Amino acid sequence: MSEVIVALDFSTEKEVVRFLRDFHEPIYTKVGMELLYAYGPQIIDVIQSLGHQVFLDLKLHDIPNTVQSAMKNLARLEVDMVNVHVAGGSKMMEAAIEGLESGTRPGMQRPTCIAVTQLTSTSQEMMQNELLIANSLDEVVLEYAKLAKNSHLDGVVCSVHEAKAIHANCGNDFLTITPGIRLANDSVDDQVRIATPVYAKEQGSDYLVIGRSITQSENPLETYQNIQKMLSV
Ligand code: C5P
Repeated sequence: MSEVIVALDFSTEKEVVRFLRDFHEPIYTKVGMELLYAYGPQIIDVIQSLGHQVFLDLKLHDIPNTVQSAMKNLARLEVDMVNVHVAGGSKMMEAAIEGLESGTRPGMQRPTCIAVTQLTSTSQEMMQNELLIANSLDEVVLEYAKLAKNSHLDGVVCSVHEAKAIHANCGNDFLTITPGIRLANDSVDDQVRIATPVYAKEQGSDYLVIGRSITQSENPLETYQNIQKMLSV
């Protein structure tokens, strides 16, 4: 089943609350660094007190010990999903899971932990010339996904076009979280490798991260409900 995560890419708490006012049923939201750094963890309380789930998209990347301690603190916020960069290595990813487990209240489930393989802003050229990685982008994404799986993470952020190969190599239980979703009539904005919700579902994407197609639409609730309908067929 494919689920929608709405990216709350707003710059003020007021805009977040105004946007969520129409959503009476719980939804899965994504809070990124802009919002968290501007408002602190209270913004998570605000969203959770309205009954919504939170994917806290901070993409941690540091030495294992620091990531472990940071994840312990993030688990205490009782968010539903967090993430790291695969580039931090297997020890860092294992430390992230340990931190989350130690910060989770007894009897509660630890937050789902996923990893970023390569940012969508990274091109093949940039990877080779600046990061000195000679393999193709597709190979790197797949190998990074396998490393995340072997480090006990729950899944990866990837493009819709990579979801199938990742499931084939890492199993269907290994989650694929895919941004870059656009509705048929939308503008592409700054996304490059885009896909429609139905195509994302067909490719086996577990979570579709959708921002502007919903938040900037004339009637966000209606757009959200229409996407849900498309995915439930
Ligand atoms: O507005 P749009 O649907 O393009 O928003 C997609 C969301 O997913 C944004 O919050 C963006 O930062 C995030 N994201 C992405 N590509 C990645 C990782 C995260 O677009 N590789």
